[in-house]
Amino acid sequence: MAQTVADAAERRWAVVVGAIIVALIAMMVVTGVHWSAMPPSRVETVDVKRLHLEGEFVESNLGTVLGDDGKVVVRLVAQQYSFEPQCIVVPAEMPVTFRATATDAIHGFVVGKTNANTMLIPGFVATFTTSFKTAGEQLMPCHEYCGTGHEAMWARVQVLEPQEFLAKAKGGERMSCVPR
Ligand code: CUA
Repeated sequence: MAQTVADAAERRWAVVVGAIIVALIAMMVVTGVHWSAMPPSRVETVDVKRLHLEGEFVESNLGTVLGDDGKVVVRLVAQQYSFEPQCIVVPAEMPVTFRATATDAIHGFVVGKTNANTMLIPGFVATFTTSFKTAGEQLMPCHEYCGTGHEAMWARVQVLEPQEFLAKAKGGERMSCVPR
């Protein structure tokens, strides 16, 4: 009698443990397949030592530009302890591509409560495309601990109505909302 009770208890545990193992394997398979269906974007590198002298991230090329193809691209650089430009202009309701890198340490940023969020690693170009639902001003803090000035490192993002943005963006010039 005691033996059959023990056997039944043993069998129940075997079922529970078996179910846990099946669930864990299923999680591994699902996340593995999901990630290979959504691979991280390709790696793009940039020479940190020549960043400010030539190429895409020279100071005069930073900021927001409306290309001839109608695409909006924001280029920015992070360094201890600021972003360049300090105030970024983007349109609402239009795709905006960010291209950014860091000069000295690992930084990062997130724009308000939007999904615009990336790490910035020296030597690598971080890029993503997003769109902002509503016009207004957002804060853009650095969110990777980068040194003693980390908590003072942030920029502002002005999200403009599309018409207002397009009116300002004529001529392909690099825009920002830094007061001058
Ligand atoms: Cu830059 Cu924290």
